[in-house]
Amino acid sequence: MRFAAIADIHGNHLALQAVLEDIDAQGIGTAEIVNLGDCLSGPLDAGRTADMLLSLDLVTVRGNHDRYLVEHAESAMHSWEADAFAQLRPAHLDWLRTLPFFTVWRDKAYLCHATPAEDNVYWLEAVSPGGHVHLRPRADIEALADGITQPLILCGHSHIPRVVRLSDGRLIVNPGSVGGPAYDDDTPYYHKVETATPQASYAILEEGPAGWSVTFRLVSYDHMAMSKMAAARGRDDWARALATGWLD
Ligand SMILES: [Fe+2]
Repeated sequence: MRFAAIADIHGNHLALQAVLEDIDAQGIGTAEIVNLGDCLSGPLDAGRTADMLLSLDLVTVRGNHDRYLVEHAESAMHSWEADAFAQLRPAHLDWLRTLPFFTVWRDKAYLCHATPAEDNVYWLEAVSPGGHVHLRPRADIEALADGITQPLILCGHSHIPRVVRLSDGRLIVNPGSVGGPAYDDDTPYYHKVETATPQASYAILEEGPAGWSVTFRLVSYDHMAMSKMAAARGRDDWARALATGWLD
């Protein structure tokens, strides 16, 4: 079995389009793509991205930012949600409401946005009080996988492509972010995530005689067009992130 995992699109329709073309070029059909959430939020092209995702009808789990779009009052929305919400139609919001917190894909892979317990906590990374983002201690990572019987586990949320092999052989994979190569956040401490490249990231998962393996792919696209869109909406942080993969 071979399939593709995408995550954290964040309304970047040009990055999504490029990733879909790359997946197709790898011989993987759209029925073999799973989406790990945070689909629309950000100062980009949420409406067009939502149209694409509704027509693709991928197996998708709900991210924290997908939840914020349908849970928070419009007046209380964070700027990432406010920019996206203004572009969304009722059908888009209805679709977000249908997304599950987790799902199991073809009895093979457990899918969630962040961790099996929460949608806004990194599974594979920890943040130090000084804002350093680093690999989470192995025991913490393994404790969160307790009770999951599938040999392959997929999560997103941190935007950092990473694979962790658990001591029992299970694999946890974060495919990285399609549409947001860098950002900063205040929780649990102020920190930055910078992938240091503007390319879109996703993963191909393949089951062979020795178990599951992963190939990370970085896809170039017209990232400056999206950077200019963010700048035009007054979001210089997003504009810099999309231009370079760095925030500064
Ligand atoms: Fe997220």
